[in-house]
Amino acid sequence: MAKTKMTLGDFKKFKAEGKKFSYVTAYDYTTASIVNESDVNIILVGDSLGMIMLGYKGTESVTMEDMIHHIRPVVKGAPDTWIVGDMPFGSYQVSNEQAASNAIRLIKETNCDCVKLEGGVEMLDRIKAIVGAGINVMGHIGLTPQTASSLGGFKVQGGTPESAAKLVKDAMELEKAGCFSIVLECVPSVVGKAVSEAVEIPILGIGAGPYVDCQVLVTQDLLGMYGDFKPKFVKQFAQIRKAMVDGLNDFHKETVEGTFPSPEYSFNKAVDIPKLY
Ligand code: KIV
Repeated sequence: MAKTKMTLGDFKKFKAEGKKFSYVTAYDYTTASIVNESDVNIILVGDSLGMIMLGYKGTESVTMEDMIHHIRPVVKGAPDTWIVGDMPFGSYQVSNEQAASNAIRLIKETNCDCVKLEGGVEMLDRIKAIVGAGINVMGHIGLTPQTASSLGGFKVQGGTPESAAKLVKDAMELEKAGCFSIVLECVPSVVGKAVSEAVEIPILGIGAGPYVDCQVLVTQDLLGMYGDFKPKFVKQFAQIRKAMVDGLNDFHKETVEGTFPSPEYSFNKAVDIPKLY
């Protein structure tokens, strides 16, 4: 049975009912169609595609064009899944006008369901400008990869009373500014709990412990496909990279041995071919 696509109203409803939900990344049509066939509720076309799809060291170089190129096939592949389009670094920091016009472009050119942008209280004006343009905004606080170097690298955030309180304040202000949900990345579990309890919108945790409303993971991480790096918070629910390497090696072996393609995989019609040489 096809699943029912989440609506904007479901986000608050699920939070109010204490109903947990799930969220993964996809950057291409095939992966999107696989997620669409699963029970997972939300897809993020994240700027993590910079590392996972394009081989960059970080997310800073990802462009609006990269995002649009990847969001479009995901929207085609997952018609029954809520789809989030990430706003890349540099597409919303400069001014409210830049933020609103790039958010409008992302929605207009891809038909995704909302945009996501990184930052706490310092981004309130940008968030209000985008919400004011009639676009659903998902916030992202805690470890914000686009500005990770200014946070001291890819490190757990909210580890002191002051920084934890700042995250709670960020979440409350983002909710007031109109965000319908917030990603909270890489914080101690108690901070995940405090942030989640402070707001009526869902907190979508990645490395934020078990007390948040939704769990987010990068698909290539949770399926064991990405070989470069595995953060502590990633559980590998499958070993797809190994299965792919094994499959490729079997193909190579049968090719060099001459056992592939057997008659089963060949067109076996007899043809009387005139001799030309
Ligand atoms: O781009 C991304 O994959 C993200 C997740 C880390 C939430 O923003």
